[in-house]
Amino acid sequence: YDNGLGKTPIMGWSGWNKYECKINEKIVFGNTDALVRHGLDQLGYNYVIVDDCWAAYKRDKQGNLKSHPTTFPSGMKALADYAHSKGLKFGLYSDAGRRTCIGHRAGSEDHEIRDAKTFASWGVDYLKYDNCFHKKHYYPHLRYPVMSEALNKSGRPIFYTICEWGEDHPALWAGKYANSWRTSLDVKDRWDRIQILADDNNMWAAYAGPGGWNDPDMLQVGNGRMSVAEYRSHFSIWSIMKAPLIIGCELRKIREEHLEIYKNKEIIDINQDPLGIQARKVSRQGRCKCREVWAGPLSGKRIVLALWNRDWRRVAIKVNWFDLGLEPGVSVCVRDLWKHEDWSERQQDGFEVAIDSHDCGVYILSDVRLTSDNVYVIADHVF
Ligand code: DGJ
Repeated sequence: YDNGLGKTPIMGWSGWNKYECKINEKIVFGNTDALVRHGLDQLGYNYVIVDDCWAAYKRDKQGNLKSHPTTFPSGMKALADYAHSKGLKFGLYSDAGRRTCIGHRAGSEDHEIRDAKTFASWGVDYLKYDNCFHKKHYYPHLRYPVMSEALNKSGRPIFYTICEWGEDHPALWAGKYANSWRTSLDVKDRWDRIQILADDNNMWAAYAGPGGWNDPDMLQVGNGRMSVAEYRSHFSIWSIMKAPLIIGCELRKIREEHLEIYKNKEIIDINQDPLGIQARKVSRQGRCKCREVWAGPLSGKRIVLALWNRDWRRVAIKVNWFDLGLEPGVSVCVRDLWKHEDWSERQQDGFEVAIDSHDCGVYILSDVRLTSDNVYVIADHVF
């Protein structure tokens, strides 16, 4: 989608995963400060996003959306101004129906042009558009374009993300109207849910690219119900899938080991690689088929590789050149992006690494030395 935005997946913070409807402006201001204090803005996390529950039950007398008087008394423009004063961008949420998904806040149905103007006047840089409580015949592929056009005409560049949970296969049509689209159910701070979302999002890899990305939902790292290894897997797979990297935890008291995950610059660089090709699952090993190899092309004729151990114990996962589209005899340099180290020897024909249960190794293969042919193909990309 060409509105000039989302050339790489966006990065930022949203309160939804942690607070759901218990959000208020104090929490948003505080987390904005914490984002900057932790230096996350410098790493690219630059959108502060308010999800559902900011809006009042009813529109004002003129018919405009307004913020909830007790939880957001300063108004949404004040939050946008605050984000902008810190060099950040500001994101907001609305719904294609008459109510938002939480059920008791005004949505944008039949008010798209007016609301897009309101958002622009507040300085909104991002709109997440949900899909609850719409009229029966207001199918997503018909109504999402209406808001897209309204935003386009609002006079402000606004990143537009579609949230209809993958039900109408938005990857097939949303690329014409939006900068990203959800491919799945809501994320939860649970290992089984992370795996489902990764697999759902993987199906649509071919449709993602600069300007329009698949969205397996926001990050749960730091919310406390998964192990550090599981959070590492979550962050690794989301990054290589070119998912939006939206921090979903309380940043004012985040634990060091969780912050370290969010701050892995080498993994962030994979997510933000200018080539913008979503890595895919290329092999499943073991009887459980849960020892996985994921790979994709990167700029500079490099390959990103993830070895994801979904098994219940530590196992060795094997990489075959065949799975990567490389010919036998090709040799590569390997760098481990979690250990931050280069391997001392070049690898030829593949290799094997032992990975802890529920953990995920991420590697860059570079300086690919070919044998006879001088091309290789990975995820439909010909080098
Ligand atoms: C459903 C979406 O999938 C969630 O991400 C969140 O925005 C809620 N709606 C808000 O009600």
